[in-house]
Amino acid sequence: MLNESFQNVLSNKTMEIIRLVSNLESEIKRIKEAGKTIGFVPTMGALHDGHLALVKRAVEENDFCVVSVFVNPTQFNNSSDLEKYPRNLEHDAELLQKAGCSIIFAPEADEMYNNDELNSQFEFDFGGLDKVMEGKFRPGHFNGVVQIVSKLFNFVQPNNAYFGEKDFQQLSIIHHMVNEMNLKVNIIDCPIIREESGLAMSSRNERLTDIQRKNAAEISKVLFESRNFAAQKSPNELTKWVTDRVNALKGLEVEYFEIVNSSTLQPLQSWNEPSVGCIAVFCGDVRLIDNIRYNLQFNV
Ligand code: PAF
Repeated sequence: MLNESFQNVLSNKTMEIIRLVSNLESEIKRIKEAGKTIGFVPTMGALHDGHLALVKRAVEENDFCVVSVFVNPTQFNNSSDLEKYPRNLEHDAELLQKAGCSIIFAPEADEMYNNDELNSQFEFDFGGLDKVMEGKFRPGHFNGVVQIVSKLFNFVQPNNAYFGEKDFQQLSIIHHMVNEMNLKVNIIDCPIIREESGLAMSSRNERLTDIQRKNAAEISKVLFESRNFAAQKSPNELTKWVTDRVNALKGLEVEYFEIVNSSTLQPLQSWNEPSVGCIAVFCGDVRLIDNIRYNLQFNV
């Protein structure tokens, strides 16, 4: 059983698991009144070393580290993906305690949303950042992400919030959101953490069989290999090369691979722009994403 302690984190070192917004707000108020800083890591649980690297930085760089564990229903456009999303709060709590987290915020959906919010789409001006890649293939996904992250920022009031670069488009949108909403939080971009095989760490990897995991490791190998050709091929040629190469591998099917300007996320016209190649691949019914920067003129 989880040990749910509701004592003031300022007065002892035990980690708290908080379910209610009102309890979270009281704790945040106490922390702020004591003049302490908060580092925040929003997650959907099923934690892996990628998350723990974010938590480690949040612990090192702030007085208190708050981690939210909430599988946000409004960002799933596929109900079976939502159902199958791995959940194990007990295990997550053990990892977070060891990592030095002070507060886990793990609400139920009805604590975060009323019925209207659950049944309508959150409106936000993404300035076009949502029209490509993940946004194109998962319509409404980023509306749900901005909806939940803005709510969480409002409750947690973090000084610093930590996000992984694996979700490159999400990170761009979070930066845009903070500017648009004029929020007083520093967004800290953290590098992708990979398994030894090169596979980008993801909670979805838990759903891969051993064979699928081996197949999935080939994705990053192709991405890294593609860097060797960037100087000789145009962005379009390289896009086709990566797509064909991954599709030719066993058990993998590319949903998209796009090389885009890393600030605007619009398709890259020439290598004279800062660039990132973003990929989404089905490995069986598990959808994986990854990305790579090309070390040409603007990316060194
Ligand atoms: O990246 C994720 O895990 C989620 O999109 C986030 C930021 C926790 C919002 O639900």
